[in-house]
Amino acid sequence: MLNFELFNPVKIIFGKDTIGNLPTLLQNKEKILFAYGGGSIKKNGVYEQIKQALIHKDVYEFSGIEVNPEYETLMKAVELCKKCKIDFILAVGGGSVIDGCKFIASAAKYKKNDPWELVMGAQSEKAIPLGCVLTLPATGSEMNGFSVISRRSVNAKKGFFSAHSYPEFSILDPSVTFSLPERQVINGIIDPFVHVTEQYLTYKINSPLQNRQSEAILKTLIEEGPKAIKRKEDYNNRANIMWCATQALNGTIGKGVPQDWATHEIGHEITALFGLDHAQTLAVILPALLQHEYDYKKEKLVEFGKNVFSLDYNSEAKIAKTAINKTEKFFRSLGAKTRLSEYKIPKKELKHIAKKVMETSKGVKLGENSRIGENEILEILEIAWPSYK
Ligand code: NZQ
Ligand code: ZN
Repeated sequence: MLNFELFNPVKIIFGKDTIGNLPTLLQNKEKILFAYGGGSIKKNGVYEQIKQALIHKDVYEFSGIEVNPEYETLMKAVELCKKCKIDFILAVGGGSVIDGCKFIASAAKYKKNDPWELVMGAQSEKAIPLGCVLTLPATGSEMNGFSVISRRSVNAKKGFFSAHSYPEFSILDPSVTFSLPERQVINGIIDPFVHVTEQYLTYKINSPLQNRQSEAILKTLIEEGPKAIKRKEDYNNRANIMWCATQALNGTIGKGVPQDWATHEIGHEITALFGLDHAQTLAVILPALLQHEYDYKKEKLVEFGKNVFSLDYNSEAKIAKTAINKTEKFFRSLGAKTRLSEYKIPKKELKHIAKKVMETSKGVKLGENSRIGENEILEILEIAWPSYK
C-alpha cells in the first residue's frame, strides 16, 4: 500500500428534517451569505426551511450560481462578502453551488491581484468558513476540499484543492432529492460510480480493504440506481444513493492506492467546449478509456467483473472485457448516452479536445501510469465517438 495522510474535518448531519439543525450549527455566526443556484430550492420548500432557520441572523442572499459555476458570477459574490464583512457562507444546492461557494470563500480572503490564480494553482491561505445543505447527491463536494470552476470567456473548466475548502458541516436530507429531474438523478448515479472506478480500476497494489470498500459502493449504486429513476419518493433508496455519493469522493477509498482521473480531465474539457453535463461526459469517456487502457488495468478489471458484476467465466480476458461492456450497458440502462456522436459532437473536433486537455494539464500526462498524452486521448475519443451497437 502507498503511504498516505487522511484529514477530513467535515461534520455530516444526515437524515430527515435535519435542515432544522441549522440554528444550532450557526450559533456563533453573525453575518451569513446564503448562496444558491437557479431557484430549484424555491420550488421544493428548501428555501422556506432555510429562511425560517436563519430568521434571527443577519442574512445576505446571493442567487444565480450556475451549473458549472462561472468565475464572473462568483466574483460578484466575492465583492458582496468583502463589502458586507460576511463571516460565514451557507451553500444550498448541488456540486455547482458548493464548489462555487468554496471559491468565493477563498477568493474573498485572497490578498494578491487575481483570484483566478487560485484555480490555476496558487495556494489559498485563508477562507471564510462554509457550511452546506446538499440538494443533489453526486459530486462528493459536501465532504471534500475540491472545487471545479468554469471561465466561459476562455472556455476553461478546472479543479482546485484547498484544505481551507472543507465545509465545517454538511446537512444531507435525502427527502430534498425527491424533486430532482430524471436527468439529475441519472447524473447523480453515474458521477459517484466513476469517482469510485477512478480510484479502484488501476493496478493491483495489495489493498483489499479499499477494493472491497469500492466494490460495496459500486454494487449499491447498481442495485439502488435504477430504483431511484422509477420510484421518485422512496426515502431509503434516496438515502442509500446519497451516502454512496458522499463516500465515493470523501477521500477514504482512494487512500493508499493509485488513482486515475483521466476520465474526469477529458470530461471537463468536453463540458467546457460543448456544454454537456459533468456526468454525461463521464458516461461517454469511461467505457472508452477502460477499453483503451485494457492492458494496464486488466487485473483490476477481472476483480471488478467477478466481485461487482458476479461474472464467472473460465477466461479472465472474457471477464475483464465483459465488465467493460456491462459498465456501458449499466449507464445506458439508466438512460444515459455513452457515445460522443449521440451528442452531435463533430468528429473533426476530437483533435481539438485532445489538445485542450493537454493544455489544461500543462503537458502532464494523465492516468495512474502517467502514460495518457495527446495521442492516447485522441484514440480514447475515437473509441467513444461511433454510435452504440
Ligand atoms: O441551480 P438550481 O436551480 O438549484 O438547479 C440545479 C441544477 O440545475 C438542479 N438541482 C439541484 N438540486 C435539486 C435540483 N433540482 C431539483 N431538485 C433538487 N433538489 O440540478 C441542476 C444541476 O446541479 P449541479 O449542482 O450543477 O449538479 P452536480 O451536483 O452534478 O454538480 C456538478 C458540478 O460539480 C463539479 C462538476 O464538474 C460540475 O461543475 N464536480 C465537483 C467535484 C468536487 N467538488 O469534488 C467533483 C466532481 O467530479 C465534479 O467535477
Ligand atoms: Zn465527477
